[in-house]
Amino acid sequence: MKTIDELLAEGVAGKRVFVRADLNVPLDGTTITDDGRIRAVRPTVARLAAAGARVIVASHLGRPKGAPDPAFSLAPAAARLGELLGTEVAFATDTVGESARATVAALTDGQVAVIENLRFNAGETSKDDAERGAFADRLAELADVYVGDGFGAVHRKHASVFDLPARLPHAAGDLIATEVGVLKKLTEDVTRPYVVVLGGSKVSDKLGVIDHLLEKADRILIGGGMAYTFLKAQGHEVGSSLLQEDQIPAVLGYLERAKERGVEFVLPVDVVVSEQFPDLKAKTPGHPATVAADAIPAGVMGLDNGPETNKLYASKLADAATVFWNGPMGVFEHPDYAEGTRAVAQALIDSDAFTVVGGGDSAAAVRILGFDENAFGHISTGGGASLEYLEGKTLPGLAALED
Ligand code: 3PG
Repeated sequence: MKTIDELLAEGVAGKRVFVRADLNVPLDGTTITDDGRIRAVRPTVARLAAAGARVIVASHLGRPKGAPDPAFSLAPAAARLGELLGTEVAFATDTVGESARATVAALTDGQVAVIENLRFNAGETSKDDAERGAFADRLAELADVYVGDGFGAVHRKHASVFDLPARLPHAAGDLIATEVGVLKKLTEDVTRPYVVVLGGSKVSDKLGVIDHLLEKADRILIGGGMAYTFLKAQGHEVGSSLLQEDQIPAVLGYLERAKERGVEFVLPVDVVVSEQFPDLKAKTPGHPATVAADAIPAGVMGLDNGPETNKLYASKLADAATVFWNGPMGVFEHPDYAEGTRAVAQALIDSDAFTVVGGGDSAAAVRILGFDENAFGHISTGGGASLEYLEGKTLPGLAALED
């Protein structure tokens, strides 16, 4: 993979450089609630601009249906990027149309523009190679060079991630280089004990990574909504908690394999429950109660790890040398159900381990809960991307940058 350093050595002054970023940030209306992904790509954009490139930043945001939808506009992200760069950032209100072409044509050396959400064009995510290719052709007309730095999207075989780099001279941005370096440490020469904490709502999203980690990790701690499928698989009632009944056979298989391989699988011993899912906007009190994880009454749902689980998980993390954490332990967005996620974050900080927080919700959680990002070894910008990397899959957006 060519690096930014090599690209800068060749010279980028006056060149139109297309930076595929991941500016898919959580929004409350037009307010960005976590700008981590924008801050993460800022250095690449700043270095290219400082070297005189005409920088075109492109990204997706959310999952619009292949047509413009103001709720998914990148305008707030463009404004934030401008603030972080301390310079004006132009904004094109389309992707490859008149606005994009005019905005790019107006760029002078060292200036930066953001084009509108790539997913406003159906070609971006199309499964049809020709349709994706046609969109990539039009994107290619905007630029002379491609820089891949949207680590959070490298697992997507999308036009701007996979097809566009084949059409332009390309390099990997600093963010991708850092992310890949960290994930290599978790796959190639991991320092033990290696403890993995997995949370989030769906077991089905994590099956691949559990499968792979059973060969690598020494201990796996489970939390979040997915824990209830594990508890049910062990024969416990889980009330009205989130449950993926169809995943129970797979879960039982993993528990069995873990036993055979000597991998310690740790499940919650107590959980915080309530009759209903909390109103995350109003933050009204959630009526939480703590119950034993093997005695969840009918009619209540588990929404967070309980205090005994928090202590147990902290003890299981205390002697770790390497930790990978993906997925919150509960509904951390509501103060009544944030303690489990907070406790895991604190345990990571307290340990001497090399700690990696794997993207998406868990990365947003540590920032939203007010933790100092620098207290962790690395906070990835990729949720699905880092999981798929750890599963050992070939990621289209990385493969496209290889040659
Ligand atoms: C993410 O948030 O994981 C990335 O931005 C990818 O988004 P996607 O899952 O909508 O492709």
